Amino acid sequence: MESVKLGAMTLLNRIVMAPMTRNRAQPGNVAGINAATYYAQRASAGLIVTESIQVSPAGQSYPATPGLHSEAQVKGWRTVARSVHAAGGLIVAQLCHGGRISHPLIQPGGATPLAPSAIKPDGQIFGPDWKKHDYVKPEALDEAGIAAIIAEFAAAAENARAAGFDGVEIHAGNGYLIDQFLCEGSNRRDDAYGGAPENRVRFLAEVAEAVSNVMGADRTGVRVSPWNAFNDMSDSAPEKLFPVAGKALARFGLAYLHVIEPVGTKKPLARKIADTAQTKLIVNSGYDGKTAIKALESGGADAVSFAKHFIANPDLPSRLAWDLPLAEADRATYYGGGGKGYTDYPAYQPDEPIEPAEPVEPAEPPEPVESGSPE
Ligand SMILES: Cc1cc2nc3c(=O)[nH]c(=O)nc-3n(C[C@H](O)[C@H](O)[C@H](O)COP(=O)(O)O)c2cc1C
Repeated sequence: MESVKLGAMTLLNRIVMAPMTRNRAQPGNVAGINAATYYAQRASAGLIVTESIQVSPAGQSYPATPGLHSEAQVKGWRTVARSVHAAGGLIVAQLCHGGRISHPLIQPGGATPLAPSAIKPDGQIFGPDWKKHDYVKPEALDEAGIAAIIAEFAAAAENARAAGFDGVEIHAGNGYLIDQFLCEGSNRRDDAYGGAPENRVRFLAEVAEAVSNVMGADRTGVRVSPWNAFNDMSDSAPEKLFPVAGKALARFGLAYLHVIEPVGTKKPLARKIADTAQTKLIVNSGYDGKTAIKALESGGADAVSFAKHFIANPDLPSRLAWDLPLAEADRATYYGGGGKGYTDYPAYQPDEPIEPAEPVEPAEPPEPVESGSPE
């Protein structure tokens, strides 16, 4: 398990824990001692990327997700970062604004969610009552609103630094606000932030610049998902758009790009995006030990991230290294609840005691020791 350098971070192995929302934040959307335990248990990953963390109250999408915009939240995350460091790991905070993937029921003051354009996503979302509600039509951001959100990302990065994180990952995928700017289906703006790909990548580049200025670009990563349709996303030409996004990020010297591109994608884009961004590449989605080794050995990736396998296998790197069986995670406990399905998955336990292959016997019987010898 070779180490790899992603910017200023030296990972002891190339297995990354992918970000996973688990909806177990404490009152005040604070990451609690439960989160510290959960992440520390998984500290043998070369790098942990936290669950999505909202940069502001209006950036929240789902119930019981943690933020990084209050003193109590900084304090909570400090305990998490310290616990991971004490266990020998590295951890970056995934910073996110949900944009239209939210609901007035979870917005401060019952406000309408904000987005690049007033286009309602299809479908429903969990509210604070843990019941599903139809999405509403979001309000289109004006330029002052855009600038305010960029400032929120910068402030959250400052808080991440204060909490002792090793870096931050900007969430620009999976249909949340930055992705909503990137993709045609959710961005119909006719100003400098809409239209041609060069314009649609502007918001991402401005967030990356603001965050890098605070955190250092060599401790800043970006996550994108060129093929994602989740959260009602669409774009007619991701193969054109995402290299343009990479190019717009090249001048910063980022630590890494984290690309969600299902293993076996016919016309892969991930390496091209990372190359245009002139940075290292973490790939994700659907990998197992064998396909991960293939990606690493072929130069298809610098590191591979795993999400679901890390839920039930806190010691995933050693299970992969030793080709040990993987436990299956219970989907019913992915989101919300207590320690069950969160902090109670054990590290690998062999069923039988491991016997040495050959019985080890001393070559010569030891000399009998005589009592009462003159020496
Ligand atoms: C329970 C769960 C929560 C997730 N939450 C996030 C998240 O907060 N941020 C994010 O970027 N991706 C999130 N994802 C997506 C994963 O990071 C990953 O891209 C996906 O699960 C595919 O990787 P895998 O095949 O290794 O599981 C989540 C996935 C799962 C299963």
